[in-house]
Amino acid sequence: MLEKKLEHVAIIMDGNGRWAKERGLPHLKGHREGAETVRRVVEMSKEYGIKYLTLYAFSTENWKRDKEEVDGLMELLLEFLETQLVILQKNNVRLKAIGRLKELPQEVYEALMQVIEETAGNTDGTLVFALNYGGRAEIVDAARKLAEDVRAGEINSADIDENLFRQYLYAPEIPDPDLMIRTSGELRLSNFLLWELSYSELYVTDVYWPDFGRDDFSRAIDSYYGRDRRYGGRK
Ligand code: IPE
Ligand code: IPE
Ligand code: MG
Repeated sequence: MLEKKLEHVAIIMDGNGRWAKERGLPHLKGHREGAETVRRVVEMSKEYGIKYLTLYAFSTENWKRDKEEVDGLMELLLEFLETQLVILQKNNVRLKAIGRLKELPQEVYEALMQVIEETAGNTDGTLVFALNYGGRAEIVDAARKLAEDVRAGEINSADIDENLFRQYLYAPEIPDPDLMIRTSGELRLSNFLLWELSYSELYVTDVYWPDFGRDDFSRAIDSYYGRDRRYGGRK
């Protein structure tokens, strides 16, 4: 069964708040521990030969949280970008980002663009951060760009099919996730990769993101290799 490809893993990194609450710690401490898990998972993915790792770091809905938590998350992201650069270079991994990036605080946006540019030539893997990302926002943004191209006469509306539509998504060159992992037990997508997850295998664990370790990752991958991906057919 090991010949099945696993080139793209996407993760909803959930449970930082509950992890902190159970320990009587502030939310931000949970997010800080969660950032450590990100470092671990980036390394593990490389060991497993996973080419693309997409991490849901901040949703279009997460702005609803207290200003203190949002500010703290943005601060943590800045710190993370600064320290992660060396690790990405060492591992020959490039950074990409999907989401409404221009709506991020300017210094976060600039730091993000800088790391993306500096790692653009790395070829052993791609880490994709979903930031100010919403699956519906992505589809709406694609539809808007596509409508503009139709209006400009560059595209004929009769030619719109799934392949063409995909070209208007945030990262059309990245293959759809093979496996989507959600930590912390919730059985929902929370607006993550609505288009791209159509035929991904789903794996949910009760483990909170800050506790997500080597064994948990390997259990998710084993579960994936045990699946029968039929894509609606009868293989
Ligand atoms: C996930 O952890 C991280 C982000 C959404 C940024 P949460 O903060 O949602 O953790 P819970 O769901 O409250 O436990
Ligand atoms: C999804 O988690 C978003 C991220 C992990 C960034 P949430 O904690 O925001 O999702 P809900 O509110 O439980 O659906
Ligand atoms: Mg949550």
